[in-house]
Amino acid sequence: MQTSLRKEKEFEISPDFIPFHKAWFGPEEENEILDTLRSGWITTGPKTKKFEEDFKNYCQAKHCVALNSCTAALHLAYAALGVGPGDEVITTPMTFAATANVAVHLGAKPVFADIMPETLNIHPAEIEKKLTAKTRVITAVHYVGQPCKMDEISEIARSKGVAVVEDAAHATEAVYKGRKIGSISDMTAFSFYATKNITCGEGGALCVNRDDLIDKIRILGLHGMSKDAWKRYSKDEFKHYEILYPGYKYNMFDIQASLVMHQLKKVEQFWELRKRYVDKYNEAFKDIEQIKTLKIMPDVKHSYHLYTALLKTEMLKCTRDEFLSELQKLNIGVSVHFIALHLHPFYRDAYGYKRGDFPNAEYASDRVISLPLFPRMNDKDVEYVISAVAHLIKKYKK
Ligand SMILES: Cc1ncc(COP(=O)(O)O)c(C=O)c1O
Repeated sequence: MQTSLRKEKEFEISPDFIPFHKAWFGPEEENEILDTLRSGWITTGPKTKKFEEDFKNYCQAKHCVALNSCTAALHLAYAALGVGPGDEVITTPMTFAATANVAVHLGAKPVFADIMPETLNIHPAEIEKKLTAKTRVITAVHYVGQPCKMDEISEIARSKGVAVVEDAAHATEAVYKGRKIGSISDMTAFSFYATKNITCGEGGALCVNRDDLIDKIRILGLHGMSKDAWKRYSKDEFKHYEILYPGYKYNMFDIQASLVMHQLKKVEQFWELRKRYVDKYNEAFKDIEQIKTLKIMPDVKHSYHLYTALLKTEMLKCTRDEFLSELQKLNIGVSVHFIALHLHPFYRDAYGYKRGDFPNAEYASDRVISLPLFPRMNDKDVEYVISAVAHLIKKYKK
């Protein structure tokens, strides 16, 4: 028996830390980066443009703009729609701050609508209750990679003449009723942040299906400079640029594109591996009454970005956070997605949101745990995490 292993009563602790996430790059990314460095052109250029084309085709969107984050994509989407002071943007409280922060930057008010308890996605009926004459946008966030009820949301938006933006930071591979996420709404924002399904450290893209907005989005994303200003150092022609709007500096550059263009080629292979681990987690947890797994709807392709489940703390002698600390002591990386946004000090103080406003989101916010899920882990890692969770449930059950 290995003496290096720490032992907790009846549980052998893994000597190796299983991280929450680990990115996976191969020789393809390494060679492409070297090629970019050696080319002498490292900012936005041919590789970014190639990635835009590849991602547009993958998402079956009309247009795609490669950017330096999903936050930038969301900001540009709202800005291009003319969101401004006095406007309201309806979204879920179970999201990352960026979804709502960028509306605040433009002077608009984020209005939250409660979620469905089975999937933790925004509830269309709750959206309807929040519509006012000031609503400009409904932002659907595909929680942990499962598409929202887009037919219902699109219909509500259409009947009220408001735009739909999708926050698909978690949902690169997702499909809703046979339609690829990115091809459905006016605009869809994607993330290639370090922990995302495909990554370049920091990065994002905005898929756009509105011909009337695409030029404005490209211009706004690069200082407000007139079209194709990124080509201004090429040998083709000398051209002055003009500033058409006070834009932002949101362009993806070729070093990022060198990574993410190869990640995109592996996207389905990575997905298969994550699905296999999600199935294993779900199978193991289905008979543990203290854990509620999230429902996967029959009419979607889930992108399995995160493995998130609810810990029924009412059946345990510990809090969610204590449970997570214990998992960390057992050498497992964990996370929480998310503490509901309306409970954060800024949203509470600036808009008067309070506990009690969104009961389903609060129930979830108090109980969600996210366990390691990434293609580079293996069956043994998943089995270890499962056994650690089962061990702690046994230790703390009432
Ligand atoms: C739901 C959601 N939206 C937006 C973002 C922002 O993505 P980025 O870091 O690429 O700006 C994240 C990041 O984790 C997210 O989880």
